[in-house]
Amino acid sequence: MVKKIIKSGTLITASETFQADILVENGKIAAIGQDLQTPDAEVIDAGGKLIMPGGVDPHTHFDLPMFGTVSSDDHYTGHKAAAFGGTTTVIDFVSQDFPSLKQCVDAWHAKADDKAAIDFSFHMNMTRFDEQVAAEIPALLDEGITTLKVFTAYNGVLRLEDGDIFRVLRIAAEHGMLTMLHAENGDVIEALVADALAAGHTSTEWHALTRPAWGAGDAILRVAGMAQAAGAPLYVVHMNTAIGVDMLEYSRERGIKIMGETCPQYLFFTIDEMRRPDGAKWVCSPPMRTQADNARLWQAVADGTMQTIGTDHCPFFYDGTKPILYEGREIAIPGKELGVDDFTKTPNGLPAVGDRLPVLWTEGVVKGRMTANQFVALSSTNPAKIFGMYPRKGALLPGSDADIVIWDPDRKVKYGVAMAQHRTDYNLYEGWELTGYPEKVFLRGRLIVDGEQWLGKRGMGRFLSRGDGMIL
Ligand code: URP
Ligand code: ZN
Ligand code: ZN
Repeated sequence: MVKKIIKSGTLITASETFQADILVENGKIAAIGQDLQTPDAEVIDAGGKLIMPGGVDPHTHFDLPMFGTVSSDDHYTGHKAAAFGGTTTVIDFVSQDFPSLKQCVDAWHAKADDKAAIDFSFHMNMTRFDEQVAAEIPALLDEGITTLKVFTAYNGVLRLEDGDIFRVLRIAAEHGMLTMLHAENGDVIEALVADALAAGHTSTEWHALTRPAWGAGDAILRVAGMAQAAGAPLYVVHMNTAIGVDMLEYSRERGIKIMGETCPQYLFFTIDEMRRPDGAKWVCSPPMRTQADNARLWQAVADGTMQTIGTDHCPFFYDGTKPILYEGREIAIPGKELGVDDFTKTPNGLPAVGDRLPVLWTEGVVKGRMTANQFVALSSTNPAKIFGMYPRKGALLPGSDADIVIWDPDRKVKYGVAMAQHRTDYNLYEGWELTGYPEKVFLRGRLIVDGEQWLGKRGMGRFLSRGDGMIL
């Protein structure tokens, strides 16, 4: 591969901002310094531009069967959308659909490997637990998987009983793995959903009204208590509530190794969106809350209480009855219309993977809610560290993979579905005016996005076998 020098850009890392050139060789960052001279290198002028490590999204769901349909981005369309938004690494969740964990992981590789266009890894969902599953968990490390997600909600589908969650935490502690928590109160939700349907409340807002915010608080505290007893670290995914932030702080102040992830949708939207005629577009679990929750989450992002911002990207079409053209053939992927008469049938999830960095840059950095360094820390460096990929990913350092974003801080765009590359028919940020956008994106030194042009290819993304993560 030809050598490249990215010249005169302003580098932004999780802790520093400085001007330098970057020499890229064999897919790695070979050197960073002032006025680097390598006569045989292709020169890319980044004067006036910002240079950041490619985004690391620790939470995606591509090609996920759910609610009698499937999330509408697969591991190619989703990776491509991620790359256009400046993200070069994603971690997807493997469903526990087969008797053995190895079969589950193999099935996810079969979906992802030939399609992958950026680098990727997997977390394992633990949604069924018995002696055989327990015995198999340590072998996930040989598959490069170091993380296990447990759910305290989705009764009868994804939820594990508390005793089994504790057993997972103990195994994780013994083998240096990290447990990830989906925190809601499944029993309360089950009862409230039954009441709502019996009373004829079928509209979209009931999705949120039947999932009380305190359920997140009690689930985080309960599982943090189990983590304490197991001597295990805990990572709380898609945090959406002020009370959840309180519980994160409370637990950490008492010595529990607990970390938190929020997602852009929880920083901007509230239950009011679900009251719109097209409210199904915002249905995901856990749901949007109130402006006070948004504000508390922003504060947690700014003051370091929250470690990462992922996306929980799990898109569906708003109108999944319309066929779309895909690779020369027409397909229709059922979507949000499934819940038109019953909120419990609305597929849970929304598009986000490509929106994350452009939206957060404008709303976070440009509007002064976080620094550019915090932006890099939360969306790239911290996830890489926590999930055992640092400094290969999430860093601008000699020896790191040359996953580099050249960011134009002056580019103004009117964002929306036409610009986002997700395979769906809507975007939550329709019409938002953004300032700052990725101009060029490199994956291991190869230019994959050049302005509007897609230069990536299916199959060029590599699976990342992960090592020990850090507790931040
Ligand atoms: O609504 C969501 N979040 N769908 C994806 C599954 C999950 O719990 O993360
Ligand atoms: Zn979840
Ligand atoms: Zn998720």
